[in-house]
Order: sequence, then structure tokens, then C-alpha cells
Amino acid sequence: MNTKTDFLIVGSGIAGISLAIKLAHLSPDDNILLIAKENLEEGSTYYAQGGIASVWSDSDNFEKHIQDTLSAGDGLCNEPVVRKIVTQAPERINELITMGVQFTRNDTGNYDLGKEGGHSERRILHVNDQTGENIEKNLIDNVKKIKNIEIREHWCAINLYASNYKCYGAYVLDQESGIIHNIAAKATILATGGAGKIYLYTTNPDIASGDGIAMAYRAGATISNMEFYQFHPTCLYHPYAKSFLITEAMRGEGAILKNVRGKEFMQDYHPSKELAPRDIVSRAIDAELKKTGDDHVLLDISSYKTPSFIKNHFPGVYETCLKFNIDIIKDPIPVVPAAHYCCGGVMAGIDGSTEVKNLYVIGESACTGFHGANRLASNSLLEGIVSAHECAETLTSLSSDLKIKEFEQWEPGHAVPSTEAVIITQNWDEIRRFMWNYVGIVRTNKRLQRAKKRINMLQDEINQYYWDFKIEKNLVELRNLATVAKIIIVSAISRKESRGIHYNLDHPEKSEMSRSTTLRRPW
Ligand code: FAD
Ligand code: SIN
Repeated sequence: MNTKTDFLIVGSGIAGISLAIKLAHLSPDDNILLIAKENLEEGSTYYAQGGIASVWSDSDNFEKHIQDTLSAGDGLCNEPVVRKIVTQAPERINELITMGVQFTRNDTGNYDLGKEGGHSERRILHVNDQTGENIEKNLIDNVKKIKNIEIREHWCAINLYASNYKCYGAYVLDQESGIIHNIAAKATILATGGAGKIYLYTTNPDIASGDGIAMAYRAGATISNMEFYQFHPTCLYHPYAKSFLITEAMRGEGAILKNVRGKEFMQDYHPSKELAPRDIVSRAIDAELKKTGDDHVLLDISSYKTPSFIKNHFPGVYETCLKFNIDIIKDPIPVVPAAHYCCGGVMAGIDGSTEVKNLYVIGESACTGFHGANRLASNSLLEGIVSAHECAETLTSLSSDLKIKEFEQWEPGHAVPSTEAVIITQNWDEIRRFMWNYVGIVRTNKRLQRAKKRINMLQDEINQYYWDFKIEKNLVELRNLATVAKIIIVSAISRKESRGIHYNLDHPEKSEMSRSTTLRRPW
């Protein structure tokens, strides 16, 4: 089915919806189509807990936030980008406040500023420990009121239509009707989030299968810094808890990591202990688990804060843990590290512009140079709103010169419903397991080479059946997972040093010649 729109926005997290709202305001005569793979709220944004970083208190200043970001990024940030994003933070956050987000205030009536690892000041605005849910609900309420925005849920982008480094739109599967739409647009904007589902253990929701990164790669865009996949130190360890994060803000308020015998260990790894940067805390937990043979460690807030403080500050974590019979006002919380955030992505300007004409990428799918080799906590919601703002301004200024060009119908070939769905599940599980074991928190040359052999074999297998099976979301996601896994492996192999989140036992030192990795099809 052929559809036309001025702007196609793929993704309804903080980046996609903020862009839609701003663009509708700046370009009221243009039509915007906003699509989401699941319900509008389903994405990492909704699950964000800790908050959004911005200079806000009198003791803080932009230079401190900039230096903290650069220091976490370990030499690979793009400093002008960092400066631009950090200095815009208060203005963009004030827009969220105007839209209705009510950040938590303290007893004096001022915003309660949280502290997280790697921040030299308290500067995290938050809505208790449910910041993302509040921001996302507000964005959804606002976007639904706007007339020139059409919203489609359960529409899964399959691929971009691009040739000669120009993008004309996308093929999109309506999962309810099974119809594939050819959506032609003046500009296509991917705001599809991260790729945590590549790993066996992740804090990410199921939508995070790297679709935007894989689609942009196939369209010819450059993908950068994918070896820097951030692992969050504290994901709830429980057989029935799927991907539940225990916010870093809890360590910011004094929670202590202990092994299962109750021994504290962070003093052995870093002078900032629990508030060391995430990569260091995750590696410390990984080392403790390997040393002791235990399958988790403990995070204890109950010994350090009163029950009312815990319930007031962390109501989301308290309620969720209680469902699993863990009472955090009395007991320590079992935790493990898990894949959390994609610091790399599609190489893009702050405004989302890529090397493929009329293709823009914003939010977690993009690599703007803001995070470098490691992201500072609570900096990604911020990057999402700043990039959305910049992208809206660029698209508005270009709009009158851009044209919609219709393109070929999707060719279904001989595709039939799969009678071997088990192969998709099997391939999916294999990727996630070897990525965790071989391309995880601590890497070696041998493990990376093993992973490369396996991904090559799996990509061959997937390519053999991809065009024969009827297009379904699982199949689309599997192909994308495999593509992104391969990009991560190749990027990790090419980095002959340890830096930021990438830690290779065979290259434990930093190289003086370090630069960002870039990959473009074909490698
Ligand atoms: P998302 O919010 O992930 O949205 C992606 C959208 O793309 C979804 O609507 C999805 O349906 C859509 N999509 C994906 N693929 C397709 C497709 N093929 N077709 C159609 N639609 C598609 N960051 C902070 O700064 N502070 C925090 O406190 C914080 N806490 C976090 C807690 C958790 C548990 C997690 C997982 C992340 C956290 N992060 C935090 C990171 C931050 O939440 C994300 O980086 C950010 O929300 C990403 O926003 P986004 O708009 O790029 O993508
Ligand atoms: C957290 O609340 O610990 C997550 C913060 C982030 O990922 O930025």
C-alpha cells in the first residue's frame, strides 16, 4: 500500500515524540507520521529511573558538567558537541516542565537534585525513581493533541528505501493487518532507541533490537563506536524479573554493594567506591562474581536509610521488589550487571543529519560524539531532547526545498508463513548468549574471534531463510540483531586497547593513537 507524508518519524521515545511536537509547531503546514513498533509508551524512555542531568544548583556550572561528561567519555567525546548539549540542558528541561512534567521537589520547594556515578555535583532532575514514565506520559498526552501528526502503533519499520546514499522513506509492516506500507517521505527520522536485546541480560525492553542502526547501515550510513556497549552495574537478579533496573541514584543516596557473605568490595577497585563510573563498578562486580563463583551480589540500602526515606525516594523499586518478595527496607537487593546503553550508533550531527541524504537519526540510535567511550549517567534523556530540538530546526529550514518521491512496492516473493519458527528463536538465543559470554564486560582476542565465527555462520543461515519466510516482527528483529552484533564484534576486534567501556584483557592499556571506530557497508 502506498502512503505519503512530509516527515516519517520512526520511534515514540523521548527523541521521536519530542521531535514530532517541535516539528509540528515549527512546520504547521507539513504532515508528520509517527510510528511505533509496539504501544507508544513501550521503549527505554518509559523505564528510565534516575533522571535527566542538567546544571541547576548555584554550586554547579556548565564547565563542571562538561568536564564530567568528557572524563566519562575517556578521550573520545566530541567536545563542541558536549558543550552544545550541556549548555542547552536547562532550556530544554524547562520546556518539559512547561509541558507538564513535575520533577520532584525537596522540603524547601526547590527541585530535588540527585547524584549519580561520575557526576561531581548533584544535578539529576527526577520524578522519584519513575522519571521516564512521567516524561513519556506527558509527551504522549501532548503529541496526541496535535492535528498535523498522525500516529500509528504496532507499525514496524522493516527497511529504508534508499539508493545512492539518498533515503526516500521506508517499508513498514502493520502488524495487525499484515499489510506492508511503502511510506514515501521528504525526510525519514529514525529514533528507534538501543539494541540491548543483543545481550542475554539487559535492562532494555523488548523493542531494543537495534532496528534503526541496522536499517541505516543497510542504507549506507556510517556506524560508529559500537564496541562501547554500556553495562549497568545493578539489574535485579531474580528468575522472574525481566530486565528490571535498580537505579544508580540508590548508590547516590548511600546504598552499598556487598558480596553474598555481606563483605563490601568497591574499596578494592576505585577510590569513589559505589560512585565510580559505571564501567568500573560493572567490572568490579564481574570480577567478584568470577572470584567467588557466586551468581549475584547484593545492593544494600536498608542498613543506611530509614524506611520512609527509601519508600519516598524509590517507590518504583520498592513496589517492584516487593512483588518478588524482596523488602528493600529490610533486605539487600540481589543484583547483576546487564547491557544497558548503546554509546555508539549511526554517525550523526546533533541535529541527526547523516551521510545519507534525507535520513536523520536521533536519540540512542545515533552517535553524535556526546558520550565517547562511556556515557555519563542521566545524559541520554538529555541528548534525546536536545537532538530532537536541533533536528526540528534543521528540517523546518529545509522543508520547502525537499520533495516526496514515491518508490517501488515491497516485493513479497514466495514468502510463506514459517513452519520452522523454532529456527528464529534458536538463532535469537544463540546470538544473545555468545554476545554475553564473548563480547561482554571483559573481552579477549580469542573470545572476539569465536564470536565473529559464530555471527558469520548465523548471518549466512538467516540470509538463507529471510526472503522465504513471511515478514513478521521477530524475523525483522532477528536480522537486525545479527547485523548489529556483527558490527559490535568487528568494532571490538579493531580496537586494540582498553578504553571506556571496552575492556580487552589482551590489550589492557590505552593507546595514544585512539580514535572513534567507523564502519560502513560493505566492511
Ligand atoms: P526509546 O525510548 O527506546 O524509543 C524507541 C522507539 O523506537 C520505541 O517507540 C519503539 O517502538 C520504536 N522502534 C524501534 N524499532 C522500531 C521499528 N523497527 N519500527 C517502528 N518503531 C520502532 N537515561 C537517562 O538519561 N536517565 C535515566 O535515568 C535512564 N534510565 C534508564 C533506565 C532503563 C531501565 C533503561 C533501559 C534506560 C535508561 N536510560 C536512562 C537510557 C534512556 O532511557 C534511553 O537512552 C532513552 O530513553 C532512549 O530514547 P529514544 O527515544 O532514543 O528511544
Ligand atoms: C539509572 O537510574 O541508574 C539509570 C540512569 C542512566 O542510565 O542514565
